[in-house]
Amino acid sequence: MGRLVVVSNRTPGKGPAAGGLAVALRQTLAEREGFWFGWSGKLVDIPEPHAQITDIDGLTVAQIDLTRDDHQAYYGGYSNSILWPSFHLRLDLATIEAHWYEGYRRVNTQFARALLPLLKPDDVIWVHDYHLIPLATELRNLGARNRIGFYLHIPFPTPDALYAIPHHQELMRDLSRYDLVGMQANRDVAAFTEFADHQTPSSLDGARVHSVDFSRTEVVAFPIGSDPDAFARLAVSPAATKMVRRVERTLADQRLILGVDRLDYSKGLPQRVEAYEKLLANDSRFRRQIHMLQVAPPSRDAIKEYQETSDTLDAVCGRVMGRFAEPDWQPLTYVKRAYGQPSLAGLYRLASVGLVTPLRDGMNLVAHEFIGAQDPTDPGVLILSRFAGAAEIFPDALLVNPFDTDETAEALRMALDMPLDERIARWTTLMASAQKHNVTDWAKHFLDHLAPAKVDHSSTRDV
Ligand code: F6P
Repeated sequence: MGRLVVVSNRTPGKGPAAGGLAVALRQTLAEREGFWFGWSGKLVDIPEPHAQITDIDGLTVAQIDLTRDDHQAYYGGYSNSILWPSFHLRLDLATIEAHWYEGYRRVNTQFARALLPLLKPDDVIWVHDYHLIPLATELRNLGARNRIGFYLHIPFPTPDALYAIPHHQELMRDLSRYDLVGMQANRDVAAFTEFADHQTPSSLDGARVHSVDFSRTEVVAFPIGSDPDAFARLAVSPAATKMVRRVERTLADQRLILGVDRLDYSKGLPQRVEAYEKLLANDSRFRRQIHMLQVAPPSRDAIKEYQETSDTLDAVCGRVMGRFAEPDWQPLTYVKRAYGQPSLAGLYRLASVGLVTPLRDGMNLVAHEFIGAQDPTDPGVLILSRFAGAAEIFPDALLVNPFDTDETAEALRMALDMPLDERIARWTTLMASAQKHNVTDWAKHFLDHLAPAKVDHSSTRDV
C-alpha cells in the first residue's frame, strides 16, 4: 500500500484542539508514513517555491506560504465570495470579480508545483474541499499519475446555481480529473448527477464548448461523522464539568437551549433567534423557565457579508432582550467567541435542546457532537434543519425548515414538552446512527474506495 498524502487549505495545528478530521487521519497518516500538505498560514512578499516540512505533534506537515494578493483572490475572493455562497444557494450574497479566478488557479498551480517533488509514484492523494478543486488537473498536467481523490465538505449546488459561477465548466472538468469524488449527502450526488446528465455548455463567443466527460470519475456519498463515544467521555471530563458548574450557577433552574455555530450566514442564526422570540411570544409559560445560549465564533470577518450577518444577529438578539428581559431574567446569551471541545461537550450535555438550524449545510458536525455528549438516562432533544446533510442520517431528530420560524418555534415547544421516554427513544436511534457514521470509518471507507487504480491518467494531460 502506498503512502497517504492529505491536502487541504489549512493544515492541523499544534495542541489538543485538533478537529475530528485531523484526529481521524492522524493514525492513518502515521500507519502509511504519509504527510499533510497545505498553506502555512503565512503571507509573504515572495514565497519559496518549495514546501517547508515540519513535525507537528508527530504528524509530518508540508506547508507553503502565499502572497497576500494571491491569498485574497484565492481564499477571500473566489473560494469564499463566489464558491461558498453559490454552493450554499446564496447567489444574492456572491460577489464576482473576474480576476479572482486567476488567483485561485495560480494558488492551485503553486500547490501542485510544491507538492509534486514530494510525491512517490504509488502515493495516494486525498484533496479536501472547494479551495482545491483544480488540484488534480494541475498535478496531472505536471505528470502525476497517482490515484487522486477529492472530498467536498460543503453541499454541491443545484445546476442553476452552478451555472451562475464564473468558470464553472472548468471546475467541472477539474472534478473529472479525480478518480473518486466524495460528497456529504445523497442530495449532493443527485445535484451533481443532474448537472452531469443535462449539461448545457455555452460560451459568449458562440464557440463550441464540449460537455465534461465524467466516465472515469466515481462520485459517491460518504457522510462524514465525528467520534461520538469520545464526545460522551469528554462531556463528563473534569474540564467539561468545570464549565458546566459555572453555567449551572447562572442558569439556576432554567432549561438551556443551545446553538453552536461559526458566525456564517449559512447557519441561519437570525432566523433561529426569531424562532426563539416567537416561542416566548406565543407561550408565556416558558418565560423565566428557559434560556438560550448561542455560541458563535467569528469567521471570515474580512468579508462584508459576514460583517452584515454579525450586525443582523446583534440587532435580533438586542430586540429579543429588549422585548422579554426582566431585571432578574435574561432570555438569551450570545457569545462571539470560540470554546475548546471539552467546554462545548459539557454545554451540549447540559442543554435540554440542541438547536442546529443551518439554512444549508454540508453535514453539520455540531449535530453529531451534541448527540454524542448526551446523558443516556436524560438526553436533550436535537432540532435539526432539513437542509443539513445530517438530516439524511438523523431522521429521528425534530426536523424543521429553518426559513419557517413558526415551525422552528413549534419544534422548540415540542422539544421542551417532550416526555422522557420519547427523548430516550429518539436519542437511542440518533446515537446508533452517529456511532455508525463515525469519522474513522468514514476515512477508511473513502480510502478503501480510492485504493484500486481504476484509470491510467498518463494519457489525459491537458494541452
Ligand atoms: O465547512 C467547510 C470549512 O471549510 C471547514 O473545512 C472549515 O473548518 C470551516 O469551513 C471554516 O472555514 P475557514 O477555513 O474558512 O475558517
